[in-house]
Amino acid sequence: MYERKDKFYRKAKAEGFRSRAAYKLIELNKTHRLFKKGDRVFDIGCAPGGFLQVVSEAVGPGGVVAGIDLLDVPAIGRANVAVIKGDARDPERQTALLDLLGGPADCILSDMAPNTTGVGFADAFKSFELASMVLDLCSTHLRPKGNLLVKVFLGDEFERLRERAEAAFSKVTVTRPEATRKASCEVYLTGTRRRA
Ligand SMILES: C[S@@+](CC[C@H](N)C(=O)[O-])C[C@H]1O[C@@H](n2cnc3c(N)ncnc32)[C@H](O)[C@@H]1O
Repeated sequence: MYERKDKFYRKAKAEGFRSRAAYKLIELNKTHRLFKKGDRVFDIGCAPGGFLQVVSEAVGPGGVVAGIDLLDVPAIGRANVAVIKGDARDPERQTALLDLLGGPADCILSDMAPNTTGVGFADAFKSFELASMVLDLCSTHLRPKGNLLVKVFLGDEFERLRERAEAAFSKVTVTRPEATRKASCEVYLTGTRRRA
């Protein structure tokens, strides 16, 4: 059943969050302590801006969050948020992100989702490709001991992604937050303390 306007959708509306995704991030950060006051964070696939709102508040005025999305993101209205438009796979946009923070981040978040076709295995493969790209990006855009959160659709390639993450991070977990839509095949992979 179509459940766009479920409990979390209504809660986000009532509490001024731009998306239900905000609640996923709040839950994940409570459990895994991905970012904290003063941190510098990349938010990849940031539209419409629920993650940006949560991170901006959590890192405070001493921190910064730099987001990117293919879509326009209406201004968040906070001094510690910067957003660029474009494709996160584009090396020029990746350099632009690094310039925004002035160097590697303490934490990389990716909530990117491909345009879905309804063909499960094909959508899962596109999601795997996006998540793999984010894992690659960690070697240049995430400081050693930094943390990663990346969304991925479960599919044939998932174990390969998990193995790669386990080689790159001290601890890897896979979580399905409560605010995830029931019909969704997405999970969030966290990698904490990137190995140098
Ligand atoms: C589920 S939404 C993100 C929600 C967001 N985290 C929030 O809290 O509001 C997924 C986003 O990924 C973006 N996206 C997908 N592929 C992308 C790419 N190659 N580069 C940049 N953004 C991408 C989409 O445009 C979409 O806005």
